Amino acid sequence: MTGENRLIDRHGRRHSYLRISITDRCNLRCTYCMPPQGIDWTPREEILTADEIVRLGTIFVGMGITKIRLTGGEPLTRRDFNQLAERLGALPGLKTLAMTTNGISLAKRAAGLRAVGLNGLTISLDTLRRDRFLQIAKRDQFDAVMEGIEAALAAGFAPLKINVVVMRGVNDDEILDFVDWAKDRPINVRFIEYMPFPDNKWSTGGLMPYVEMRAMIARDYELIPLLGEATAVGKDFRLAGHSGTVSFVTSMTESFCGGCNRLRVTADGNIKSCLFHPAEQSLRDAMRAGGTDLDVERLITQAVDGKQAAHPPMEELMTMKNRTMIEIGG
Ligand code: GTP
Ligand code: 5AD
Ligand code: SF4
Repeated sequence: MTGENRLIDRHGRRHSYLRISITDRCNLRCTYCMPPQGIDWTPREEILTADEIVRLGTIFVGMGITKIRLTGGEPLTRRDFNQLAERLGALPGLKTLAMTTNGISLAKRAAGLRAVGLNGLTISLDTLRRDRFLQIAKRDQFDAVMEGIEAALAAGFAPLKINVVVMRGVNDDEILDFVDWAKDRPINVRFIEYMPFPDNKWSTGGLMPYVEMRAMIARDYELIPLLGEATAVGKDFRLAGHSGTVSFVTSMTESFCGGCNRLRVTADGNIKSCLFHPAEQSLRDAMRAGGTDLDVERLITQAVDGKQAAHPPMEELMTMKNRTMIEIGG
């Protein structure tokens, strides 16, 4: 059912974008995402089944969601990914079905993903140097990701979004390399401010603020602002003479909570109203206890009603209780 949006919170924000984490497993170990000791993978029986995800997708789309992004962990580690994407993509009323992936398995899979109806793709890549990739992601998979990016472009994912988490002293010297790299490709490079999560090595010193990244690029290029949607997490720019575009995701220094249109479901089926709000309600338990769609809708409405106006300031985020990034899915 399409029509009226029933996901409006107490601050007047209309939610039309759902991020579903479909697994907490990953084949990389990025330091900014995963605690060094790893996490205890959630037992398989606690993870949402494909039928449960499709049921939730149907309910959410009925309430006003028009865009779903599948996240993880690494979404492509789920064996039923293609069938799941195909079923979600077919939901009447859903306009965009996107995924954020580490890109490792795209060389073989990109074309197939396009065929099952995925129409938005974002790949995480924090460095253009093989040795540094190993340092950040703890796995020697740089070549696989680069091949994956080529395959995604060949399959027609355009613009292809590339997420770069910028960490001072780790990869901040590659900002211009990324800009140059995107010159002749339909790529949107998204420089992301490093955000704190439990055990992810974050420090204020490691954060490179957006204004600094922007000034670094502005020394060599004229950045021309693009008019983005009010709900976008990125500030978007084009560069004269470039096919590629750049964006900055400024969660830490210029938060964009006022325009937030996002809700999240974790891999174990909890609805989370904000990346940085620890409260969660289990939609999975309601479904497994025999709850009706209406029961599930009530829980969703409760979560939306409890959504805070904005995330707490940076200093508080560092010490607050939250799940790790890999458990939330970004
Ligand atoms: P689009 O569909 O292109 O808008 O993608 P996206 O930016 O929503 O998704 P992506 O998975 O590429 O995330 C990019 C970065 O934005 C990641 O670092 C996310 O953690 C961050 N991000 C996404 N949504 C939110 C949000 O609601 N709040 C904050 N603070 N950060 C977010
Ligand atoms: N800070 C900012 N972005 C992060 N991501 C993962 N961890 C962090 C963090 N600590 C990004 C990754 C991934 C997206 C879903 O979230 O780049 O692409
Ligand atoms: Fe895996 Fe993505 Fe987290 Fe890296 S950022 S460990 S690729 S889920």
